[in-house]
Amino acid sequence: MTMTTSEHIFLLKDAMQNAYAPYSNYKVGALIISETGAIHIGCNVENASYPQGGCAESGAISAMIVGGDKRIKQIYIMSDDDDGATPCGGCRQRIREFSDSETLITLCSSEEIIETLSVEDLLPKSFGPEYLK
Ligand code: THU
Repeated sequence: MTMTTSEHIFLLKDAMQNAYAPYSNYKVGALIISETGAIHIGCNVENASYPQGGCAESGAISAMIVGGDKRIKQIYIMSDDDDGATPCGGCRQRIREFSDSETLITLCSSEEIIETLSVEDLLPKSFGPEYLK
């Protein structure tokens, strides 16, 4: 059964609302549709030792790998900020590892989809696995 965009957004918002972000008060959710069509979700999880917190994208990527998939067809990222989410530098590199030129990165506020970008838009002239062959 293929899910609709509004069903993806519903799950994404739920993930964001479940984020554990008592220190920054900045909740983020991420939802990946991988190459098999499977859905993998994550949220940011902070802790009292601030730098040890984890990003939503990182959680969703871990869930994808645990689930046996390797390619991101689309990743939705949502924050409850009106301007919407944008991935941090580290997460741009994490997304890049499992993406290709077709991958869609969709940035959302809690109310709407803001824009959809490519990895090249987010991380131009990037370093990736092909440099290590
Ligand atoms: N955060 C994410 O989850 N993803 C990003 O790409 C940007 C930042 C989280 C980390 C931290 O818990 C909070 O947002 C504020 O930086």
